[in-house]
Formats: sequence, structure tokens, C-alpha cells
Amino acid sequence: MNPRKTMKMYKIFLSPPHMSGYELEYLAKALHSNWIAPVGPMVDAFEREICEYLGVPHAAALSSGTAALHLSLLLLGVKNGDDVICSTLTFSASANAVKYVGANPVFLDCNRETWNLDPELLEEEIRAARRKGSKPGAVIAVDLYGQCADYGRIEKLCQKNDIPLIEDAAEALGATCHGRKAGCFGQMAVLSFNGNKIITTSGGGMLVSANEKLIRKARFLASQARDPAPHYQHSQIGYNYRMSNLLAAVGRGQLKVIEDRIQARRRIFAFYQRALSEVPGIGFMPEAAYGRANRWLTCLHVEPREFGATREDIRMALERENIEARPIWKPMHLQPVFAGCRKRGGDVAAELFENGLCLPSGSGLSDPDLERIIAVIRSVHK
Ligand SMILES: Cc1ncc(COP(=O)(O)O)c(C=O)c1O
Repeated sequence: MNPRKTMKMYKIFLSPPHMSGYELEYLAKALHSNWIAPVGPMVDAFEREICEYLGVPHAAALSSGTAALHLSLLLLGVKNGDDVICSTLTFSASANAVKYVGANPVFLDCNRETWNLDPELLEEEIRAARRKGSKPGAVIAVDLYGQCADYGRIEKLCQKNDIPLIEDAAEALGATCHGRKAGCFGQMAVLSFNGNKIITTSGGGMLVSANEKLIRKARFLASQARDPAPHYQHSQIGYNYRMSNLLAAVGRGQLKVIEDRIQARRRIFAFYQRALSEVPGIGFMPEAAYGRANRWLTCLHVEPREFGATREDIRMALERENIEARPIWKPMHLQPVFAGCRKRGGDVAAELFENGLCLPSGSGLSDPDLERIIAVIRSVHK
């Protein structure tokens, strides 16, 4: 009997956490110091170290990237009934935050060159709004799968039209655009340290900005908006959004190896590309000429007719071999929860969803793991 048929191979996950070994040291320090609440020296140090890494002066460590998105919209004055322009090809958190503040997401398609928000459509949408005598409350640009959006053009458009820009860099820590790091664009930028990200605090996020006042206000709102009084007094609605000192300790241990993690993810991307680019009908997410992607996830594009099978055939074949892969994000304008929201542009995002697949990309993957995944994909090719 074929032993491969009887022995279940261990599971390969899409993007599992990858410990550096430094986390325990920092965690022990945090525990011994008794700073275990969402305040303390690890939180301060993690904020400082992220600022140094990005080259941005101010940051507030929060409980999640979603919390950071919510606060960014509140801080930039987006209110009930405003339109907020958002990439349609993203994770739902980018758009959910727009709804939290009672605003209306307007979804723009992406372009083929970057899979990110199409600046031409952004210009069209701003012009159309101006013709109606209105202006969007904000733009949320997403750095998809670890590749910066085209800020050379997006930032200029937002500045020229005086529209606040929020960079959703949740997936893109360490990516660059025109020599600046993801997290440096717009009025405020959002990072995520969710368990599947390139570095993790188990769950967590950060709001970064060049504007000290905004970050000070973010800390205030994130700590239940307590007025300066000896008793508990509140003049505004607050949130419990600060990051725990224990999780900040984990984050510091992770941040130490961020460059190794980027190199590992980029190497994994190159490994897949080398092994599969000769296979008819297989393509990869392009890297924009303006920067470096962190290649958080390696994304395939399948031409079913040339390949002889669909991306779903590949995904299911991988699943049968205990390998986790995921379709590209389902665009927000196709999500039932956002039915009725306005959308501008063609069907690039919809086509990428139809034919795109995220492959296992964890920085701990070994070459035999990659060979195992590649062999399954090759076996599906007809
Ligand atoms: C593009 C994008 N934005 C926002 C988030 C939300 O971050 P968090 O999970 O930390 O709330 C995520 C991922 O989790 C994401 O991929």
C-alpha cells in the first residue's frame, strides 16, 4: 500500500505566527515588573521602536488594526453621512470602520499593475463629487498583500483636493514606496499585528502619524476618554482600545527580526515563481516599480483555459493534502453586507477574486514544505 495514502501529512497553514525567540525575554521582564495592563514601559518602548523603524515621529499602540482604523476616521473628523473612498479589494475591516462612524463607503476598483486602488478612478471620483458640490470625508488606501498603493499619485490627489488620506498598511509592514516605508503615507496610517501578519503580538495594531496632536488624542480616546480629574469624568465617548503591556513585549521581540521576516517571505515568493512560472496559465501578483513589497502572502493568478483547471481546483487539491490556501479577498462591492454601496470602475478586483489564490507564505516554511505545495499545484495542471 502507498504510505502517502495512509499517512496524513502535517498541516501547512497559510500564514502562521513565527516566534523569534526574543519574545520570552521581554515577556518575562513585563511580568516581573508587574506591568501587565494596557499601559506600561513595553507599550512606550514598542511605540518608540516602531516609530524609529518607520521614520515616523508618533504612534499609539492599540488592541487591533481595526481599532486603529476606527480611531483614524474619528480623529480626522469623518462623520455620519460622509462618503469615504476605499479600495474594493481588501479585507472587510477597512470598510467596516467606515460604517462604525455612520459614513458610506464608496468602493473603487484596483488596477492590474499593482492590484491596489486605481489612482485614475480616484481622480474621477473626486471630480464627480466636486461637480455635485461635495467632497469625500476621507480616502482609505490599502497596501494589498504587502504592496504599497501608488502614493506618488494618491497622496498628491488627496493633498490637492484637501481630502484626509488614511493608509491601511495592516498587511504591509516593511514594504516601501519611493523610498518611504508603508506607514508613512497620509495623515494617519494603520498597522496590524494580528496572528497572521508578518510580525504579530497575537492580536494588536498601531496608529502612526506625523501629527503629535492626533496621536495624543488617539491615546485619550483609546483609554475611555478620561478627562484630567481625580474622579472618573468623561466629556466624550471613549473606547477600550489600548494594547496590553504584555502584548507589546511580544511585539518588541518580533520587531527585532522584521527584516529577516521580509527576506524570508520574499524568498518564498521567488521560490514559487521560479518553480511555477513556466506552467501555462499561472501568473503572480506583480511588484510595482515604485517600491519593495514585503510579499506578506504569495498570490497566484490562474488562467483556467491555459492551465486546464480553475483556482478552486487548485485550492481543493491543496486542501485534500492538508495545505491551507485562500482565494484572493472577495471585493467589498460584492459582499452582501455592503450591497447598495456605490462602486466605481470595472471588474479587475472581481476577476482577481475569481482566479486568484493566496498560497502558504509563512516565514517558517521549509524548502520541502514548498516542494510539497508546488507538487500539488503541478499535479492539477492538465
Ligand atoms: C487590509 C487590512 N486592514 C485591516 C485589518 C485589520 O487588522 P486587525 O485584524 O488587527 O484588526 C486587516 C487584517 O487583519 C487587513 O488585512
